[in-house]
Amino acid sequence: MASGSTSDSTWGFAATLAKDLQAAGQAVHMAPLSAFAPHSYTAAQRIIVMTATWGDGTAPTTANGALARLAAAKPTVPLAVLGFGDRSFPAFCAYAKDFEAAALANCWSLLLPLGEVDRQSDQDFARWGRALGAALDLPLTLAHRPVAPQSLPMTLVSRRAYGEAVQAPAAILHFAVPQAGLWQRLTGRGFGKFQAGDLLGIAPEGSTIPRFYSLASCSADGFVEIAIRKHQGGLCSGQLINLQVGQSVQAFVRPNPVFRADRTRAPLILIGAGTGIGPLAGFIRAQGDRRPSTSGSARATLIRICSTVKSWINGPMTDSLLDCARPFLAAVSGITCRMLCAKTPSPCKTSSQAGPRSWSVAGAT
Ligand SMILES: Cc1cc2nc3c(=O)[nH]c(=O)nc-3n(C[C@H](O)[C@H](O)[C@H](O)COP(=O)(O)OP(=O)(O)OC[C@H]3O[C@@H](n4cnc5c(N)ncnc54)[C@H](O)[C@@H]3O)c2cc1C
Ligand SMILES: Cc1cc2nc3c(=O)[nH]c(=O)nc-3n(C[C@H](O)[C@H](O)[C@H](O)COP(=O)(O)O)c2cc1C
Repeated sequence: MASGSTSDSTWGFAATLAKDLQAAGQAVHMAPLSAFAPHSYTAAQRIIVMTATWGDGTAPTTANGALARLAAAKPTVPLAVLGFGDRSFPAFCAYAKDFEAAALANCWSLLLPLGEVDRQSDQDFARWGRALGAALDLPLTLAHRPVAPQSLPMTLVSRRAYGEAVQAPAAILHFAVPQAGLWQRLTGRGFGKFQAGDLLGIAPEGSTIPRFYSLASCSADGFVEIAIRKHQGGLCSGQLINLQVGQSVQAFVRPNPVFRADRTRAPLILIGAGTGIGPLAGFIRAQGDRRPSTSGSARATLIRICSTVKSWINGPMTDSLLDCARPFLAAVSGITCRMLCAKTPSPCKTSSQAGPRSWSVAGAT
């Protein structure tokens, strides 16, 4: 069994399958997909690949290089591929699909067609397990009990709420950076260093499946900042929007290396919508003073897309997110914030101010 994972949950599913296979008298070897080496599995009778998809349809961390290895390998025993993903992403289970397509193109035979597990659904997994059991003639039940990821308690130190008046609650939350004990630091379970654009995983009460939020701050800022909006009927966003100063949530950080401002000195153009502005404000805060300003051009331009009147009214949240960057803006003159509103009444508000600590807002329909 070869697993491709970034935030480890796929390993838990793989362990459940391994346990059931062993209970049915099978010997199981488990490895990360990045170490995929089919020619060396001389005793193997089948290969099962279980892989998540990350980024925008790309390989998870422990699957790096696996497609190239597959392309270079001669087909051996029959293969089954199970994809883990989230249907809210456009490229649902794309990496698992790519892996299966590459195997077929390379003449591998399949034990059964590609399986898909949406948002770590134990029902999807059990359904695929029944199909696998039928193909192998083994009784597989795959009753998976997800284990919540290792996390630390993180305390809210301030909150600013927006959008209540237009029934679109949103908030900027500041947390104290959790202090890890010596043992947690030694075992790599502390919070560690983080950058704007990395992901804050929050384990909501009542679910073992974490939700991810884009970090708007970096560890050098000394606080953890996220911008959230409430999803109707949503578990985690509901708990976060109601969180009061002094209360805590269980959290952890996952690096998100595909979401970074580049390291050059060229002016930045950042485009975002809604709470997606959060990490972009973090990029400006962290990098603005490294970008030289040539006359007439901004060091950073932030374009905020508003698709509805509600998101236009939520403009004050963007103002506040950039406000957090103000201490840093002293050295970052020439930041421009441009709001593009798809469905707002025309003309939109336009204002501008001069001075090193100011930024201008221009609207267009
Ligand atoms: C990489 C990444 C970054 C993100 N960054 C941010 C960010 O910075 N800010 C932010 O606000 N969000 C962000 N999100 C979204 C966030 O992770 C959550 O998805 C969001 O907060 C909703 O979680 P929830 O627990 O409130 O909703 P959930 O409980 O997961 O529910 C989501 C929706 O599905 C509906 N639903 C739930 N269960 C069922 C069911 N059984 N049948 C039918 N419908 C159901 C709910 O009513 C709700 O509308 C990000 C997501 C990703 C993947
Ligand atoms: C930043 C990020 C990007 C993701 N991209 C995709 C994607 O493009 N397609 C998809 O189907 N799922 C995507 N997912 C969902 C993961 O594949 C899914 O949560 C999976 O179960 C995670 O498995 P893991 O914990 O083993 O890494 C993404 C999740 C995150 C947090």
